[in-house]
Formats: sequence, structure tokens, C-alpha cells
Amino acid sequence: MKRRVTKAIFPVAGLGTRFLPATKAIPKEIMTLVDRPLIQYAIDEARAAGIREFIFVTSRGKSALEDYFDHAPQLEQALRKAGKKELLEILQSTNMDSGAIAYVRQHEARGLGHAVWCARRLIAGNEPFAVILPDDVMAAEKPVLQQMVEAYAETGGNMVAAMEVPREKVSAYGVVEIAEDMGRMVRVGGLVEKPAPEEAPSNLAVIGRYILTPQILRHLNRKKVGAGGEIQLTDAIAAEVGGQGVYAYRFEGERYDCGSKAGFLEATVSFALAREDLGADFRRFLEGIVARSNAAE
Ligand code: UTP
Repeated sequence: MKRRVTKAIFPVAGLGTRFLPATKAIPKEIMTLVDRPLIQYAIDEARAAGIREFIFVTSRGKSALEDYFDHAPQLEQALRKAGKKELLEILQSTNMDSGAIAYVRQHEARGLGHAVWCARRLIAGNEPFAVILPDDVMAAEKPVLQQMVEAYAETGGNMVAAMEVPREKVSAYGVVEIAEDMGRMVRVGGLVEKPAPEEAPSNLAVIGRYILTPQILRHLNRKKVGAGGEIQLTDAIAAEVGGQGVYAYRFEGERYDCGSKAGFLEATVSFALAREDLGADFRRFLEGIVARSNAAE
């Protein structure tokens, strides 16, 4: 069964402990790559893929995220008055239609699967939905979720974004057991969350973009606890391998793991270098700093 994908769930209820102390007061998703919060990249990608309804699974201490999506009439007025047209456009491009965003609470961080399950009442019984993890920031010519929506139009079933990772890193990911490798698309024979490298069925790792059937929510209803004592989305998807099927999609583009400090820094440098207004000066700065550090060694 293939239907249009118009809803996306953004699970943002994690504790973000890798960014303490910052995340004591700031939701991770509000942290900025150059001048845009992580969540804005995720929203833009979703919009480009045809998503019209945005469901945030939040938790205590995330009110800055809700504020971010409010319109800012006073600020707009001030920019208009000052003739700052470009800034006004940037500001307005972040506006969301009234009623397009829904917030549900996850009262306790019991895992990604549990976070997705918290949104179950907002998903109809037969509609596919996307899940986007804003920590995985994608730089791609064609937005990654759009690539997946197009591929999904051919396959139906469930689809996870995937990429090859070094074998020693597989235990940080959900890992695909490959049933049939068709190049960009893989028919999935099984999924294992955070396997030890020697037990991993491959080095094809699941990345934070999914298109799922509501059947996944029924699997999550069982609240089965998996790796790390958490309710894992991977386990619920694995249960559909023999059902409506699961595909892994090797996306085109670069993925930055902005849930980790190193990944966040890499994304910051890379996005700054790509900016027309900053790139050239920033490149000179980086070259200088690297040269000085090499000379000091
Ligand atoms: P992570 O594994 O990155 O966990 O979650 P985290 O809590 O955000 O960060 P660390 O590891 O403590 O630094 C992956 C995604 O799943 C969401 C997170 O918000 C993030 O988008 N998540 C995770 C939830 O919404 N609820 C959970 O219970 C767990």
C-alpha cells in the first residue's frame, strides 16, 4: 500500500547529555550551526519532501523550541520599519502555519521507540509517516527525505535511511542485515540495534530518517525493552521485515552526527565554509590556524 507522506514526527525528548552543561538550559535542537538552529534544517528538509504536519515529541525544558516556532510580530515590525528586508525574509521563512505543529509529551526518556509511540494518536490507522531525528543533519543537493519519499513511491513498506560506517563504529547504530542488495536500495532481512562489531550483520547503519507504516506503532504498543534498557524503534521496524517489508535506502549526501561534539564541530566548519557571506574569510582563518598549529608541532 502506497500513500502520500504528509506527516513527520520529530522526537526531541532526549536528555542530550553529551552536550551538558549547555543542554541543562538549552534544548539541543536549538543549538545553532552558524546561525540556524538544528531544528530548522530538519524542518526545511521535511517541507521540501512534502510534509505538511509536524509532530514534536518534547519533554520538560524544551519550551524554547515551542517559542522558536511562534511568529514574532514585534520583531517583524521593527525590521520592516528599519527597511531590513533580507532579515525580515529570513525571519518569515521560519514561520509555520497555524495548526501545522502539534506537540506531545514524552514524560520520561524511555528511548526513541517510546518517543515515536507517544505520537500514536496523531497518526491515522492507514497513513505512512516520516520520522526525522534533527541531530542527524544532512547536506545534500536533493534533500534526503525527498529522495526517500520518491524511492518509497516505488516500494511502499517501511524505509530507513542508511550508510556504510567503519566496522568498529557499528555499535553506535542500528545495523541492517542485507537480504538483497540492489545498489541504492537494500531489501532488509533483519535489523540489530547497537551490535558488537563482531556480531554485526553488516556495516550498513541506520541514520535518522524513516518512512514508516502505522503497523510500527502497534509493535511499539508492546513496549518491549531492547538494547541499553530503552524501547528501540529499530526493534519495532525489525518486526515488520516479514510483514509489510523494510527497505534501507543509501541516500546521496553528507550526514553530520550533531548529537556528538565532534560531528557538531565538523558540521559547523563545513556549513560555514559553504556560506557565500562567510566562506572565503573563514577559509583563510582556518588555513592560518592550521598552519600555525603545524608549525608549533
Ligand atoms: P540520542 O540517542 O541522541 O539521545 O537520541 P539524546 O538523549 O538526545 O542525547 P545523549 O545521548 O544523552 O547526548 C536520538 C534522538 O531520539 C530522541 C532524541 O531527542 C534525539 O532526537 N529521543 C531519545 C527521544 O525523543 N526520547 C528518548 O527517550 C530518547
